[in-house]
Amino acid sequence: MKQLIQKLVEIPGPSGYETQIRAAIRAEVQPLADEVYVDALGNLITRKGKLRSGQHNSGEGQRIMIAAHMDEIGLMVTHIDENGFARFTNLGGMRTRSLPGSRVRFVNGPIGVIGLERTIGTNDHPTMTQMFIDLGVTDRGSCPVRVGDVACFERQFLDMGNRLIAKAMDDRIGIYVLIETMRKINSTPHELYFVFTTQEEVGLRGAAPAAFSIDPDLGLAVDVTSTGDTPKDKKMETTLGKGPAIKIRDSKMLSDPRIVDWIVRTAEKSKLPHQFEILEGGTTDASAIQLTRAGIPSGCISIPCRYIHSPSEMVDLHDVQNAIELLTQLLSEKVILQ
Ligand code: CO
Ligand code: ZN
Repeated sequence: MKQLIQKLVEIPGPSGYETQIRAAIRAEVQPLADEVYVDALGNLITRKGKLRSGQHNSGEGQRIMIAAHMDEIGLMVTHIDENGFARFTNLGGMRTRSLPGSRVRFVNGPIGVIGLERTIGTNDHPTMTQMFIDLGVTDRGSCPVRVGDVACFERQFLDMGNRLIAKAMDDRIGIYVLIETMRKINSTPHELYFVFTTQEEVGLRGAAPAAFSIDPDLGLAVDVTSTGDTPKDKKMETTLGKGPAIKIRDSKMLSDPRIVDWIVRTAEKSKLPHQFEILEGGTTDASAIQLTRAGIPSGCISIPCRYIHSPSEMVDLHDVQNAIELLTQLLSEKVILQ
């Protein structure tokens, strides 16, 4: 299992440039799905389970959309100076303090290191405009990248046994949970759409059009959430290793309480560890699904993750395994919302 996680996290795929990661996911899910297609925004949409003939809530099983985003935070080149240094801006929530000294890999191959203007003092808080990418060249003509080229953190997957560290655990670990759930589900009364979305990190742009076209009865996202378990952390319930977190709210969504209840009941019945999530900053594709069309009851299962949006995002293997188990149970049986 760790081999597939490693493969998924190491592929570069900043928002809007998900071609490589989409191809890798497609190769995994093609044999597991009844239908696979890519929509206009690049979302990879896979159906598992029979097409429902009746109307909404006809008792035949539900149409359920489960989303995880393919894209990761990244950088885009804005200018290259005469000495070949590339200036850049962010794609998504890149934190400036993670940048100086980091290596970045461009989607088209080149690797560079991020430097800081020498006038910046050690206690200053530099902005991105005071940084540049050094690609090891001495003039603009030999610079291997152009304005508009995009890059992500270059960082190898690290296996610490129970703890796994990588760039882009957000949200490749969610992608992994979806793929393994597709593999595990033997039969389902539902028409399931596992959707690997684009452009989440720049404002949930892929999920809404996908939800509009699928028109699901219920929406779920699988994504990472922060924890409150490192030194001097904010008070937050979610802890690494205590099970998948059932989202109650985040900054853009109040989960449908009936969905929270359904997930809790299923976890209790299957004796799966689980915890609750109240996230005060950040959101997921579920919030975009929820407000599509005339509104779609939505919820989210989160993988607790430390150091989100840094080059070393950390998750716990048991949380990942239990999320797969929980999602498999949820989608294998009839859904009763009460
Ligand atoms: Co993110
Ligand atoms: Zn995410």
